[in-house]
Formats: sequence, structure tokens, C-alpha cells
Amino acid sequence: MAGVNLTQLTKRYTIGSRTFAALDTVDLTIADGSFTTIVGRSGCGKTTLLRLLCGLEEATSGRIEFTYRAGEEETHQRHIGIVFQEPRLMPWLTVAQNIAFSRFGDPDRDRTRAMVESLLKMLGLERFRNAYPSQISGGMAQRVALGRTLCYDPDVILMDEPFGALDYFTRKKLQNEMVELFLSQGKTFILVTHDVEEALTLGQKVIVLEAGRLIREFPVDLPYRRKRTAPEFLSLQEAIFEMILETNHETGNSEGS
Ligand SMILES: Nc1ncnc2c1ncn2[C@@H]1O[C@H](COP(=O)(O)OP(=O)(O)OP(=O)(O)O)[C@@H](O)[C@H]1O
Ligand SMILES: [Mg+2]
Repeated sequence: MAGVNLTQLTKRYTIGSRTFAALDTVDLTIADGSFTTIVGRSGCGKTTLLRLLCGLEEATSGRIEFTYRAGEEETHQRHIGIVFQEPRLMPWLTVAQNIAFSRFGDPDRDRTRAMVESLLKMLGLERFRNAYPSQISGGMAQRVALGRTLCYDPDVILMDEPFGALDYFTRKKLQNEMVELFLSQGKTFILVTHDVEEALTLGQKVIVLEAGRLIREFPVDLPYRRKRTAPEFLSLQEAIFEMILETNHETGNSEGS
């Protein structure tokens, strides 16, 4: 199990003659076994943050440190797993094979088999174990992608708008399933979304990003299986909306050329 500390994390990109900070001196502590959600407008740096966390990009400056419980650092090497916005399944593999794919090369085949079985069950995919990606729905494909990441057994699970392409009802259903999954797994979850209601349904802490800067952390002290019409839920939702709407989108994110 692991938590993550970000210190002054910065990522600069150059497009043409313009250099700007997609992520600008972000300080953030993510506790081991917590659920953090990240919201913000398009282009505010959410995906950049996840890509830095999982090592797909290198920071321009600043630090990312994983924190472990005593004695666990040595024993567990699978730090990070990511679920992308699109399922990115292998079309030539079945549902079960796609889930097992993240353990490709692992000599302990019995363990992989047992993990795939329990994930198929947990994700409600048992009857579709032999289906190919073209034969399942979008919501099911997203569950397979999640299963593949869980099968990898990472300490920290990153999710980039995992329900972004799904219809409202499927989205709500998977949000509820995600809460149950989090409660049963005890892992560290970090999920990016545009949807403030989703961020509040899932997160113990909601991070608001704007133009690469972390502008506010909202702790969500509401018990899980949250009622979306509860007054505390609605007032937090309103506060986050206001915060995102108030920020000056046009002036941020640019440092000239
Ligand atoms: N590889 C890259 N090269 C140059 N600029 C990039 C690169 N990747 C991202 N950017 C820029 O960094 C900024 C943040 O992009 P990012 O993808 O992190 O936003 P986002 O918050 O995930 O947006 P969305 O909600 O639309 O997915 C954008 O201005 C984008 O143009
Ligand atoms: Mg993105």
C-alpha cells in the first residue's frame, strides 16, 4: 500500500514559441488508502498530473514521492496502475484474457487465474468471460479495463475520466460500484473527472485544478453511499462549481514565449 507526496510539481510544455506550465508548483499529499478526485476545466492539467504520477511523462521540476507503511517498500514493486478514458482493450483477446493481460509473463499462473476469477465475479463479468471486446457494451468494456488494472495489483490506481464516454445511468451505476470497490480494496484511488457530482460521490478529498495550479482542496466528510440530494452534498457541489466558474480561464496557463 502507498500514499503519494507531490512537492512543487511542475510540468512545462512548449507549443510553437509559447512555453507554459501545464502543471504549476503543485503541492499535494495523498494518504495511503484514500480516495482523491481531481476536477477542473478542460486543459487545466488533470491528465498531465496522472501522466506524471505514473511515469509516462517526466516532471520539469519538483518531486513525486511514494510513502509506504513500515516494511512494505521492499515487498511491493507494483506502484501504479492507470485506467484511461477509453478502455483500450486488445480486440483479439477475450474479456478474461484482457484482464489477465496485465500479469503477462508472471510465472505464477495459478495466482493469475485466481485473480481473474475473483475480478470477473466482482465486476459482474462472469457470463462474458469468453466474449471479445466487440461483443460487449461500453460500460462492460470500462469494467474490463478496470479489472485489468486491478489484476496488476498496484498500490495506487489512477483513473482518467473512466466513465466519460458512458451514458448517465451506466455512469451512476459504475460510480456506485466504484465506491464498493474502494471500500473492499483498501487501495489508494485517484480519479480525474469533469463532473463535480461524480467527484463528490467518490472522493474523500476533491482537488480543484485551474490552469495548472491547485487552487483548493475540499475535504468531503460525508459517509459513503452518499445521497446526492443531501444538503451538505449540494452545498459542497455549489461551492466547487462557484470556484471553477469564478477563476479567470483566459489569463492562466500562459507564460509568454
Ligand atoms: N505532450 C504535450 N505537449 C504540449 N502540450 C501539452 C502536451 N500534453 C498536454 N499539453 C497541454 O497541457 C495542458 C493541459 O493538458 P491536459 O491534457 O493535462 O488537460 P486536462 O485537464 O486533462 O484536459 P481535459 O479535461 O480536456 O482532458 C493543455 O494546455 C495541453 O495543450
Ligand atoms: Mg484529460
